[in-house]
Amino acid sequence: MRADRVFTNARLATMAPDMPGLGVVERGMVAESGGRIVYAGAVVACDAAEVKNCEGRWITPGLIDCHTHLVYAGDRAAEFEMRLNGASYEEIARAGGGIMSTVNATRAADESELLAASRPRLDALLAEGVTTVEIKSGYGLSEGAELLLLRAIRALGEAAPVDVSPTFLGAHALPPEFAADRAGFLRMLCEDVLPRVAEAKLADAVDGFCEGIAFTPDEIATFFTAAKTHGLAVKLHADQLSNLRGAALAARFGAVSADHLEYTDDAGAAAMAASGTVAVILPGAFYTLREKQLPPIASFRAHGVKMAVATDLNPGTSPLTSLLLAMNMAATQFRMTVEESLLGVTRNAAAALGRADVGTLEAGKKCHLAIWDIERPAELVYRIGYNPLHQRIWSAA
Ligand code: NIG
Ligand code: FE
Repeated sequence: MRADRVFTNARLATMAPDMPGLGVVERGMVAESGGRIVYAGAVVACDAAEVKNCEGRWITPGLIDCHTHLVYAGDRAAEFEMRLNGASYEEIARAGGGIMSTVNATRAADESELLAASRPRLDALLAEGVTTVEIKSGYGLSEGAELLLLRAIRALGEAAPVDVSPTFLGAHALPPEFAADRAGFLRMLCEDVLPRVAEAKLADAVDGFCEGIAFTPDEIATFFTAAKTHGLAVKLHADQLSNLRGAALAARFGAVSADHLEYTDDAGAAAMAASGTVAVILPGAFYTLREKQLPPIASFRAHGVKMAVATDLNPGTSPLTSLLLAMNMAATQFRMTVEESLLGVTRNAAAALGRADVGTLEAGKKCHLAIWDIERPAELVYRIGYNPLHQRIWSAA
């Protein structure tokens, strides 16, 4: 075999779907040419220009954070203090704080200010081996401000060594200027913004927030129907604070993912299984809001719904810049297994983004790797606030 580069003397957690569990190879190597993996498996003879001896370290696919809102301005530390004094997330949102306070700060920022504010958050993720990150808009909520946010998201990805999957979260909150005209806001999203987002290829998917404090299932259906006419994938913040049957709605539209899902019922889980919609579990928001209702992990398991885990990095409900900690929280709070947690930030996170080019160590995938100073994969889930990353490999190909 010939390759540009080989990472040898390693233990691999390939996450390959045709292998059991994490797809472990004890004496393994990964070979790369032109930025793509050309081989991942047991050590074989290979003629490579560059050889890295991993000295028995573990290699996983580069991690994927498949749900973030990491481009925004301002912060919400004051609301955190209000919640400590007893106010709820919903009360603060209804009083004009919450998402709208970040919208106001974000609308006041230009692209360079947004990039300067967001880059350290992105760098914190990369420092733990993240090589692909989804980033949502949704803090602009006007045509100009949403397009500016999506351009900033694209620029951030071009400036940093990471794959960015941008998502147009148009239906995030109703801005005050449309308080008396909900239908007008949706018309603006569908008729003015969506065509421009699609034409300029500024997003891979659209997203909405289906909740009492945000949009009804019917409003989300209108937005999704328009998104589909532009060929965009859909995903949904569903059933986070109450059961509006958001999971089933997402499934009806063939959504790539439905996210949060604390209040999803068994029928919702069954619908997601039938449509192949990935359940994105967001323990950071559950933790921050001190929620009591656990997402129905056992029901997802029983129906064979794929589960992903993400940070939900946002200034209000999940100021969390650690995907390793998100995995720990998923295991500790929700009793997800080590295997589920790790597949949730690799193979299943790729599925939640509709991406076939990342998420496993298999020939043909991008050569995005995380090389770890650990003795066993469970350490990545079990430790709290410790980063055992030895090296991150991101390939531009
Ligand atoms: O994923 N649920 C809606 N959106 C975010 C929260 C955004 C915010 O509070 O700024 C979430 O939790
Ligand atoms: Fe979110």
